[in-house]
Amino acid sequence: MKDEAAKPRRTANLPPPNSKRAPVKTEMAKPARTKNTIKSSNKNTPPRTDAPKPRRVGTKMSRLLELNVAPVKTPARESKTSHGGAGNSSLTHWLLYCRPGFEQDCAQEAVAQARSQRPVLAEQPGIIPDSGYTIVAINEQALSYSDLIFARQLIRLEHIIEELPERDRLTPILTAINAIPGTFSEMWLEVPDTNDGKTLSAFTRRFGPLLETALREQGRLAENIQTENRQLPRLHIFFPDKSAALIGTSAPFNSAASIMGIVRQSMPSEAPSRSTMKLAEAIEVFLDKGEQTRLLRSGMTAVDLGAAPGGWTWQMVKRGIRVTAVDNGPMKGVMEKHPLVEHLKQDGFKFAPKKSVDWLICDMVEKPAKVAELIANWFVSGWCKHAIFNLKLPMKQRVTALNSALGGIRTRLDMEGISYKLIAKQLYHDREEITVFLSKTRNR
Ligand SMILES: C[S@@+](CC[C@H](N)C(=O)[O-])C[C@H]1O[C@@H](n2cnc3c(N)ncnc32)[C@H](O)[C@@H]1O
Repeated sequence: MKDEAAKPRRTANLPPPNSKRAPVKTEMAKPARTKNTIKSSNKNTPPRTDAPKPRRVGTKMSRLLELNVAPVKTPARESKTSHGGAGNSSLTHWLLYCRPGFEQDCAQEAVAQARSQRPVLAEQPGIIPDSGYTIVAINEQALSYSDLIFARQLIRLEHIIEELPERDRLTPILTAINAIPGTFSEMWLEVPDTNDGKTLSAFTRRFGPLLETALREQGRLAENIQTENRQLPRLHIFFPDKSAALIGTSAPFNSAASIMGIVRQSMPSEAPSRSTMKLAEAIEVFLDKGEQTRLLRSGMTAVDLGAAPGGWTWQMVKRGIRVTAVDNGPMKGVMEKHPLVEHLKQDGFKFAPKKSVDWLICDMVEKPAKVAELIANWFVSGWCKHAIFNLKLPMKQRVTALNSALGGIRTRLDMEGISYKLIAKQLYHDREEITVFLSKTRNR
C-alpha cells in the first residue's frame, strides 16, 4: 500500500454506493483556479481537487474522478490551533455528516461560516445528493461545530482511501492512520445514515474489532478515556461504501459526542405521538446532565404551543413539570386528562400566559420567520426563561430563511439587552425542520 503524501495531494468527493446520480458541483466559492478536468467514465464518481489535503490513497477511484484542480496559495501563517479549526497555510478538508438530502445546506453553511472569518479561496468539492455527508475545503478558518445547524458531525479529513482491496482492507487503513500523529481517545467506524449505509453495518461490526486490536497493539488508542485522555482527538473511519474509506479526526470540544453524530431515542409506549422523540433528543443534545437536572425540575411550569396530541407535553409532565397545552386539536392518551396538564383550545400566536413560566416549547407548523418573531416576543416580554422550538424548513433557500429567522431573534434580544444562549441543530428526529434551544442567561 502506497501512501502518496509526498505527491501533490488531491481531494476526492466520494459517491454513495450504487448512486445513480453524478455529483453536483456547488457554487459556494469562486476561487481563482486552474481547471484540469478528467471526465469520469463512471457516473458514480465525484470531482476532486489538487488541494494538499486530504491525501489520496489508492488509484482506481482517482482515475474515475472528475478533477477540479484548485491550487490554493495562501500566505504562510502561524497555526493557532493544531486541531478542530485553524490549520497551517494549506487547505483543510472537513468531512461533515448530515441528514440525507441536506448536503447542500450543510456545505453551504460550513463554507459561509469559514467565509465570515476570511475569504474562502478553495473551490468546493462536489455535493453528492442524498449521500448523508459532504466535504468542504477551506483555508485557515476555524469551523465551530456548535454553530453549524445541519452538520451532525465535524471531522478533520486526513485521508481518502479510494480503493480498498477486498481481501485486505486493514493494511491500507492502518497505513493511512500511521501517517496521522498522536494517540486517539476512541476509534469510531461509521457509515452514511442512508439505506445503503445500513447494509454496511454488518461489515463494520466485523471489521471494527480487527482494526481496534491492531491500533491497540500499536499503542494508538488511549487505554482509559475517563481521564484527561478524553481531550484527545477521536479517530473516525467513515465508509461511504465497502471499497472506500474516509479517515479523519474530531476534537471532543468541537464535535458531536455520539457515533455518526446521532443521538437516537426510543419511542416511549405511553407517549401520544412520535414527536416526543424530537424533544427527548433536543434535551439530550442541548443540555448536559447537570443542566437537565437543574433546568427541568419537578414543580416547574411550561407552555406548549401546538401541543396536540401531546408528545412534547408528555416529556415535560414526565419530569413533573406543569404544562399549559395550547392547541385547537385534541390532546390524546394519557395527556388528555392528566392532572399536570391544562389544555386550552386557543391560537398559539395569540396566547399570552397569566404568569411567566420556566419553559416555552413550541412545535407549531408555521413559517420560520413567524415562529421566530413569536419566540422573541416571549423572551422580550419576560414570559419564559428557556425555550425549545422547531422551525419548519421552507423548500428553497433553507439556510437563508433560517439565518434570517434566527438573526431576527438575536437582533431583538440584543436590542433589549437580554443575554442568552442559542443553539440550533437539525436533530436526528427532525425531518424538514430544525430544533432550537434558547435560554436566557443574565441581563446585561
Ligand atoms: C406537529 S404538531 C405538534 C405535535 C406535538 N408537539 C406532539 O408532540 O404531539 C403541530 C400542532 O400545531 C398545532 N397548531 C398549528 N397552528 C397552531 C396555532 N396557530 N395555534 C395553536 N396550535 C397550532 C396543530 O393543531 C398541531 O396539533
